[in-house]
Amino acid sequence: MKISEKTKQAILKLQTKYPEKRSALIPALHLAQADVGYLPEEIQNEVAELFDINPNEVNAVVSFYDMFFERPVGKHIVHVCKNASCMLRGADGVLRKMCDKLGVEPHGTSEDGQFTVIPSECLGACDRAPMMLVDDRVVGPVNEEMVDSIINEARKMPGHPSPIKMEADIHE
Ligand code: FES
Repeated sequence: MKISEKTKQAILKLQTKYPEKRSALIPALHLAQADVGYLPEEIQNEVAELFDINPNEVNAVVSFYDMFFERPVGKHIVHVCKNASCMLRGADGVLRKMCDKLGVEPHGTSEDGQFTVIPSECLGACDRAPMMLVDDRVVGPVNEEMVDSIINEARKMPGHPSPIKMEADIHE
């Protein structure tokens, strides 16, 4: 598994847009993830090489943010907020129901490869607690009864997008 030449070029170009190329690490990881689908060790090592940094430094970033995936994930990503405001309003039950319906444990991917469920820290929409982020959509307030329809709606959507548009980055 390797980063495509096109993505490598996009990453090198990105680096030139920052006073210090290291500042481009997070967007570069988004590009690599959009290319490969996730960020296994060998891809992290390639990124580290492009930045002339230790692979441990790349792994520290990848493992810190739950928008980066070290293992393959489903087409749809469901982040269920488990932080205080959402927890106090029933996020625990919503997370359990979501996992039961999809037949997964938290952080697991459904057998059909369609959904990965990730318990997340505050997603910045506490006014909609309890809430979840389904691909790029904020959904909430939610309750356990809504889980079926949330899953059905998500199935009609294109899946989780990369926040970075490679074409724009290359041609700007
Ligand atoms: S605590 Fe859930 S969005 Fe902030």
